[in-house]
Amino acid sequence: MIEYKLGTKDIDWTSLVDMYTEVDGVIGLARAGQADKIKKAFLNTYKVVTAWDNKTIVGAGRMISDGECYGWIHDIGVRPSYQKKGIGKGIMDHLMEGEHLLFGLTSSFVAEEFYDKLGFKKHKTAMAKYPGPSTYLED
Ligand SMILES: CC(C)(COP(=O)(O)OP(=O)(O)OC[C@H]1O[C@@H](n2cnc3c(N)ncnc32)[C@H](O)[C@@H]1OP(=O)(O)O)[C@@H](O)C(=O)NCCC(=O)NCCS
Repeated sequence: MIEYKLGTKDIDWTSLVDMYTEVDGVIGLARAGQADKIKKAFLNTYKVVTAWDNKTIVGAGRMISDGECYGWIHDIGVRPSYQKKGIGKGIMDHLMEGEHLLFGLTSSFVAEEFYDKLGFKKHKTAMAKYPGPSTYLED
């Protein structure tokens, strides 16, 4: 059975970084071995949800927010061997539960249908600026 946990208190950082390495998450920081940066980022986050199979983190996601107006969702990831079992949706539901905010996110190329099924719509004027080059930006 999958257990969802809120917050960073119980996080096994090795397991979290390992999971994000499998899905190449947190803007590539996991694959680049930047575990300390990931830990700092998650500790500075408004809301973190992790999904566990016994002692292993199998999925996670987080919301960067002021708690009043906006909630920006990032780093939704589920280990490939656990995908398509409802865990991604479970993480999203726990992140948004009890929040009355404008939720925003940028999807990966593979996840647009996943977010579409959760009721997210394409934003007509969304723009982003990355710290380096990105295949997600138009010219
Ligand atoms: C995107 C991701 C988080 C989805 O997690 P998941 O646990 O497999 O998703 P769920 O099982 O909760 O799926 C919920 C619904 O979305 C659908 N869905 C999930 N991933 C999908 C995909 N890649 N393409 C189309 N539909 C998808 C499921 O079929 C399910 O549909 P249903 O409600 O009709 O049965 C997961 O595939 C992942 O980690 N991908 C790699 C990392 C990534 O791209 N993350 C997004 C960062 S923005």
